[in-house]
Amino acid sequence: MSRLVVVSNRVPNPGSGQPQAGGLAVALTDALKRRGGLWFGWNGQLSQSAVTRPRVAHHEGIDYATLPLAKPDYDDFYLGYANAVIWPVFHFNLGAMDYQRRYGEAYRRVNALFADALAPLIEPDDILWVHDYHLMPLARELRERGIGNRIGFFLHIPFPDYDVLRAMPGHRQLLEDLCRFDLLGFQTRNDQHAFEESAGRAIGALVHAPGALRHRNHPFGTGVYPVGVAVDELARTAARTLTTNRVRRLLNGLGERDLMIGVDRLDYSKGLEQRFRAFEALLEDYPHRRGHTVLMQIASPSRSSISEYADLRQRLEGLAGHINGTYADLDWAPLHYLNRTFARGSIMGLYRAARVGLVTPLRDGMNLVAKEFVATQDPDNPGVLVLSELAGAAAELTDAIRVNPYDIDAIAAGVNQALAMPLPERRRRHEAMMTTLRENDIGAWEQRFLDDLGVARA
Ligand code: F6P
Repeated sequence: MSRLVVVSNRVPNPGSGQPQAGGLAVALTDALKRRGGLWFGWNGQLSQSAVTRPRVAHHEGIDYATLPLAKPDYDDFYLGYANAVIWPVFHFNLGAMDYQRRYGEAYRRVNALFADALAPLIEPDDILWVHDYHLMPLARELRERGIGNRIGFFLHIPFPDYDVLRAMPGHRQLLEDLCRFDLLGFQTRNDQHAFEESAGRAIGALVHAPGALRHRNHPFGTGVYPVGVAVDELARTAARTLTTNRVRRLLNGLGERDLMIGVDRLDYSKGLEQRFRAFEALLEDYPHRRGHTVLMQIASPSRSSISEYADLRQRLEGLAGHINGTYADLDWAPLHYLNRTFARGSIMGLYRAARVGLVTPLRDGMNLVAKEFVATQDPDNPGVLVLSELAGAAAELTDAIRVNPYDIDAIAAGVNQALAMPLPERRRRHEAMMTTLRENDIGAWEQRFLDDLGVARA
């Protein structure tokens, strides 16, 4: 069996037990644990100058080869082109794009540096799987260094429609670069379609049939691989952590009140302001909910030196203060707003304790919180998921209460419906969603992608 080499911008610190924010790290840790292999990328640290020799560590069957990023690269590649240009545009938010020419240069420079550091580690039979928007030029860079291995790419975030994409400086080059992979994986059919249309219109790639393309004499494939979760493992963790002191204390404090939970990176794509406003609308328009409902919103700080993120943080603090100031009583604070990252285990216990999971991004590639919330529920007495119809997960989780994340009154009504839902209906919806999650769990996601990339079964 070929060795799997996974490449992603962020690689978690092996064995540190540090909480990980973001779906990518969670999905890849689960996928690599299953078959072992090498994981290459940024270790999350900064260095004085560029480093090209990765540090290698072995942990639980996975080899980690990681590098720090030099400060100018962190600023202009990670905060700049990746997160102030690609991220907003790919989430259909042109207003948040902050393009500077040096960002584009740093993006190419860091991808070249990654290729320099990775190429010597690659063996002839390896199969490479590159992840996410930071590394779209990597196949081209590796090819230029003589690497002929199969290379696949998976995009964890949405792919924008062509009319949005073409506002982004550098988009033609990115499309050219993506066409150098052997297989491109997307979360949803919409994303796949948007890529194929863009590649056809912007650079003349030929789409022979959906999923079969050719550009500059290089045939390559595209496919839809919605990322999944480790369903049974999550259910076990949730049942176990529900009984830990931390979660017990929280539940005792809640008494008979209904807990609603939201867990997100603090990001403008997550619809947190609209969610807070919807909670306020719930308390205003459904007065019987006052005193009986608590929203716990965990928002892990992320990319905080980008002004869009820092401004959002301030606005959320203002809104949280306003909601609690307006509605709290001597023995009840409606909104618990926690601006930090928690261990995954505790979060799974909180999901299980909650009556409602609120996942209302304005746009999201998949959103694994939605899937985790469903997987962690008690099947005999499950909570209800209120889900944005603009999250990739909405294509699969059709038995959630689906809402438009910009429509505050619709979210409030959806939450009220969730809180009032009778047990038989909750069970029916939960069971239907569990069937979907089981059919396409994290193992199936990995296996389908790697099968299509041409690897023998693990
Ligand atoms: O899953 C989407 C994603 O953007 C990943 O690419 C990323 O690693 C994660 O969320 C967390 O973001 P960051 O690495 O910028 O902290």
